[in-house]
Amino acid sequence: NTAQILKGQHWLITAGPTREAIDPVRYISNHSSGKMGFAIAKAAADAGATVTLVSGPVALVTPSNVNRINVISAENMHQQVMAHVKSTNVFIACAAVADYKIAEVAQQKIKKSNDNMQINLVKNPDIVADVAALADKPFTVGFAAETQDVEHYAKDKLTRKNLDLIAANNVAASNQGFNSDTNALTVFSHAKQFELPLASKQQIAQQLVALIAQQRDENQ
Ligand code: PMT
Repeated sequence: NTAQILKGQHWLITAGPTREAIDPVRYISNHSSGKMGFAIAKAAADAGATVTLVSGPVALVTPSNVNRINVISAENMHQQVMAHVKSTNVFIACAAVADYKIAEVAQQKIKKSNDNMQINLVKNPDIVADVAALADKPFTVGFAAETQDVEHYAKDKLTRKNLDLIAANNVAASNQGFNSDTNALTVFSHAKQFELPLASKQQIAQQLVALIAQQRDENQ
């Protein structure tokens, strides 16, 4: 019997990769499996929250009592998050959103001709920054997937995107980060730092959900 400490709260979570179409048969994406975001959604639902999970294309079963919304591109994900963020208490951006999209998606399959080709990319909207910029913003938690200078880049994202917490994920090691079943996080608030050492993604998710609930209470 899990304690229902989040009863009455609405948590909105993003998970998985996005796909940015190049033409009707090709896309740009990344190695996110959705495991971390789905584990957080399960942990929040187990603790009694009403959970909405906006997920990119992944091969995972939806945890019970979680309302899942499927999206493909970063723009889709941005639209769905903005449509569901109202009256949300906590927003967690665990998705690996493509920073760029293809400037002009080809209507037909691109044919092989020249030895070289270029694709023009333009910036996608920043979902977590747009949520954090809302006048009535929820308690907003970002992730930072980094391969070097993890603390420096994570703290920079915390400040620049106006977040309440950031979970720094050093993805240089193979047993943590993209597609692994385990993970380790260092979580930064503006004043403090919390270590969640290597454990299963479900255990990390439970610890992270408890930490978020506690930090949010302290901030209120
Ligand atoms: O899915 P798994 O295989 O389980 O792997 C988990 C994970 C490694 C994907 C996850 O733990 C993680 O680190 N997620 C964030 C990945 C990422 O894209 O980080 P980033 O440093 O590029 O982005 C910083 C933050 O901004 C993230 O919260 C991201 O969701 C958000 N963002 C980024 C770009 C954008 N256009 N919109 C956003 O909201």
